Amino acid sequence: MRVWYCNCEICQTYIQSSWTLQFPNLCDWYTHLLQNSPTQTIHFHVLNNTITANPDNVEYILKTRFDNYPKGKPFSAILGDFLGRGIFNVDGDLWRFQRKMANLELGHVAIRAYGFDVVSHEIHRRLIPLMESVSQKNEVIDLQDVFRRLSFDTVCRFSFGLDPKCLELSKPLSKFTISFDLASKISAERAMAASPLIWKIKRLLNIGSEKKLRQAIQNVDILAEEVIKQRRKFGFSDKKDLLSRFMTSNISDEIFLRDIVISFLLAGRDTVASALTSFFWLVARHPDVEAAILNEADTIIGAKNGLTGYEQTRELHYLHAAIHESMRLYPPVQFDSKFCLNDDVLPDGSFVKKGTRVTYHPYAMGRMEEIWGSDCLDFKPERWIKDGVFYNENPFKYPVFQAGVRVCLGREMAIVEVKSVAISLLRRFRVELAVPRDASARFSPGLTATYRDGLRVLIRNKPRPN
Ligand code: HEM
Repeated sequence: MRVWYCNCEICQTYIQSSWTLQFPNLCDWYTHLLQNSPTQTIHFHVLNNTITANPDNVEYILKTRFDNYPKGKPFSAILGDFLGRGIFNVDGDLWRFQRKMANLELGHVAIRAYGFDVVSHEIHRRLIPLMESVSQKNEVIDLQDVFRRLSFDTVCRFSFGLDPKCLELSKPLSKFTISFDLASKISAERAMAASPLIWKIKRLLNIGSEKKLRQAIQNVDILAEEVIKQRRKFGFSDKKDLLSRFMTSNISDEIFLRDIVISFLLAGRDTVASALTSFFWLVARHPDVEAAILNEADTIIGAKNGLTGYEQTRELHYLHAAIHESMRLYPPVQFDSKFCLNDDVLPDGSFVKKGTRVTYHPYAMGRMEEIWGSDCLDFKPERWIKDGVFYNENPFKYPVFQAGVRVCLGREMAIVEVKSVAISLLRRFRVELAVPRDASARFSPGLTATYRDGLRVLIRNKPRPN
């Protein structure tokens, strides 16, 4: 049951924010609590939130009793202003329709080859020239910012057939990008508030963070409408992009189309940028892993060649493992919540009352000895390799792409993108951290993991042909 005040240690630590004295991030404190819970599940009374890192519970919520754990109305209310009726924010028929349409597009094998081409174009036309010029100037660059621009261009070309050309650092960040980040941040903060009343009153009075959110959403709406207008102008009858597919499916509601655009931007932009940032954050600290990635690339691709296509990316097992390993420790979506429809008992015996928010926590799960063994905090791609090939873990132990009925539809596409960027950069450049190697990762609040200070690095040319 939700209580407005609670004296227990966990609730008091939350209310007083005293966890900040010991932990760099809220997710680190949650991890500590989950590691010390005998069931790997905890309950926050003041948030009416059950949080679990127990794979049996995760399977139960995401698959076995999927119907009892929808996104639910409270979640839709928190994200409704930003995401509207987009796929991330709805259940039932509205969700089924969007999933079916997106699956037609993203589930197609040919689309992965198309995804590879889109990413390759961005890498060769923009990313490599940019890095060449940065390396000559010997200046510090924020790789997270570069990856956010790159993944924005890529998702727009891939999903909407349009190219916003964001990866030109001479351009200031667009009003849209800043507004999109702000809307994501303030929406996530709503979910962390001890009482929804606070943000609801602020929204009613249009003050403080809620005023900023409203303005940010207006800016985001302008871009989304522009995307739809452009797509209509250029025609979409023979186009294979996702937006054209939705626009030719009898949707006459412009606001619904806008919601679809925003959801796919969120799906493909921040997650991929976050995955890439964490990958380079870790690889720059582990030269042995970088050497193994390059060694494999030389063997599969040839020392003097570039990647030939999507099929070849599939042969890079060690790189595949390194990417999965970096997302195990730094998942782009650190936690994800559902709402319990009817009273229930989770497999670990935890009672869940109707209306409780139930969260599974991939960030904590990557740090559980029960799941990954005593070396769970180490970055070891080898744990994903068996007999020389990549070995897929049980998705409920590793719900980085969610799992079960609503599993991510863009997983393949995301991995192709991260692999292509990783190989292209690591073979041509040395990425040197411009921060102390032992600095701990600090994240900003948001729907996807964002490094608070970015990823500041120096880029050096490598004496290699490619
Ligand atoms: C490393 C990159 C990615 C990660 C870690 C990731 C992770 C996730 C997660 C955790 C969810 C569940 C979210 C929720 O229920 O609120 C999800 C859903 C989804 N993802 Fe991804 N994603 C990634 C990239 C992508 C890309 C590139 C696309 C599309 C181009 C995509 C499309 C989707 C869609 C459509 C859903 C909604 C599925 C549904 O609700 O039925 N994702 N993803």
